[in-house]
Amino acid sequence: MRELRALEPDFWRAPSAHNTQPWTLTYDGDEVAVGWDPARALPVSDPTGRDLRLSLGAFVECCLIVCADAGLDVAFRPDPGPLRVGFLHAAERRYETPFTTADVRARGANRGEYHGGRLPEEVAGAMEGMRRLPCRDLADLLHAADLHQFGDRRVTRELRAWLRLTRRHRRYFLDGLSDRALALTRAEALGLRASLALYPALRRLGLPRVLAGASRGLLDYDGDVLVLVGDVTEEVGLGRALMRNWLTLSGLGYTTHPLSQVIDCEPTREVLAGRLGVSDPETLLHVARVGRPKSPSPPSARCRS
Ligand SMILES: Cc1cc2nc3c(=O)[nH]c(=O)nc-3n(C[C@H](O)[C@H](O)[C@H](O)COP(=O)(O)O)c2cc1C
Repeated sequence: MRELRALEPDFWRAPSAHNTQPWTLTYDGDEVAVGWDPARALPVSDPTGRDLRLSLGAFVECCLIVCADAGLDVAFRPDPGPLRVGFLHAAERRYETPFTTADVRARGANRGEYHGGRLPEEVAGAMEGMRRLPCRDLADLLHAADLHQFGDRRVTRELRAWLRLTRRHRRYFLDGLSDRALALTRAEALGLRASLALYPALRRLGLPRVLAGASRGLLDYDGDVLVLVGDVTEEVGLGRALMRNWLTLSGLGYTTHPLSQVIDCEPTREVLAGRLGVSDPETLLHVARVGRPKSPSPPSARCRS
């Protein structure tokens, strides 16, 4: 357990919605409970806990990969309970994985520009539980979802609480979404800060339209969007699959830019399900564009490093 605890900074490289890093590890004898801190959940924008459980699954996968690379035989036993998804425990055998700690460290979201070009068939086909669509097929849905998101006062307020748009923010290097992670220029970050500060006054005057306009054109190129489709009761396991997919892509030089707003907004989720031929829109669990980025993005902040 002491050896496992020493690996925590690498576990913490796992991705999480809004970079909330919601996970907790509670050491008890020869087991470690994997849980979450409710203060780091997103009750308004993630009311069902979908992104929370996907993030915890991604975290579990990171833990297992990092332990295996360090020579520790550790397994995960799902056991949902209050503020808990399961336990890491000593195992008979090493976790079998093609990934390493270096892969976990190298992965990162990239919200900048991507080169045109679709994923090769064999790469798209190797993605677990993912369906793909051409970017342009989602451009209208993204705009509608952004309008919906920025039109909602409570969702926007919750997002704002996790934005770190100036280095002077006291949590800039710890968590949340920085100007750099969001690929904003200094002027754009300043503009976003100012408009969000004035949001209550400007909401009725069309601010949501202006904010949503920022992502106009984001999907107007020849690229791919991947959609994770699966059983809502398997979200932790699917979060682990999502992490493996991201690591596979990252190892091949691709990055991802999640666009959860498209499935957070009920009407756009329903249209997307129809376009994919999926009968139950609730089974759409994650959406991200994927491709070769034109420039690298800086590593995102972590509370523990
Ligand atoms: C379940 C889940 C949902 C996410 N949704 C979004 C999203 O809608 N928009 C976005 O820009 N990033 C999204 N992200 C990416 C996180 O913001 C990102 O993982 C986090 O900021 C840490 O950065 P990193 O992935 O570069 O380490 C999501 C990540 C996860 C795991």
